[in-house]
Amino acid sequence: MMTGDWLDIGSVDQITPGNARTLPVLGGEEIAIFRTTSGDFHALVNRCPHKQGPLSQGIVHGGVVTCPLHNWNISLKTGEALGEDKGCVPVIPLKVDAGRIFLLREAVIGKRAA
Ligand code: FES
Repeated sequence: MMTGDWLDIGSVDQITPGNARTLPVLGGEEIAIFRTTSGDFHALVNRCPHKQGPLSQGIVHGGVVTCPLHNWNISLKTGEALGEDKGCVPVIPLKVDAGRIFLLREAVIGKRAA
């Protein structure tokens, strides 16, 4: 369902705290949506800046996900690798409204059309 510039991708209940789910994007890169244990939601392209590990399968702790492949820590807020590691994965703007998760439409499909 589409609401203006935001894509409704479903209920907040579909992701339990400390977990993630993925959203396939036709012709684009898969997106990982995370729910932290404190109840915040974040969306990143599902590709570790190191060697493309699936961040959705990592461990979420605080505002960070640890990549399942080589344990880099990636900020859910900025998409940047933390500590001594260097790299950044695109962040997809996300908002929660009335129990639904919305992603900024142009961040999901805009690049594909360009
Ligand atoms: S691919 Fe993520 S840490 Fe190596």
